[in-house]
Amino acid sequence: MVYVTRRAEFSASHFYHNPDLGPEENQRIFGKLNNPHGHGHNYVLDVTVRGDVDTRTGMVVDLKDLKQVIEDEVIQAMDHRFLNEEVPAFREIIPTTENIAREIWRRLEGRIGAGQLHRVRLYETADLYVDYYGE
Ligand code: NI
Repeated sequence: MVYVTRRAEFSASHFYHNPDLGPEENQRIFGKLNNPHGHGHNYVLDVTVRGDVDTRTGMVVDLKDLKQVIEDEVIQAMDHRFLNEEVPAFREIIPTTENIAREIWRRLEGRIGAGQLHRVRLYETADLYVDYYGE
């Protein structure tokens, strides 16, 4: 089994708010992250695919295909977007790093040609990242 990782980057803005909670509770939990005008991040995304090396091609997955799927499913949808308003999933759930990683998984799952989606790693900053393995 070989693990192959492709990196991509995108910039997006967001804020944290739970409509089921009152303004004071939102403020207490999220602090300045609750500001509805939002703030931005330069996200770094590592998508890892695992599989056996195809003896015919020497590859687990065609990396240009993988790059294209990430471009189509993630970058087009999220780069330079206000996530809370421009990505439909985040009208329902809070666009934390955790939830963005899960949404990226949902968008990529089943779209990886050869190999299996293994991990979505999303860096919000250089010293903070979330790993999601699909469960
Ligand atoms: Ni943030």
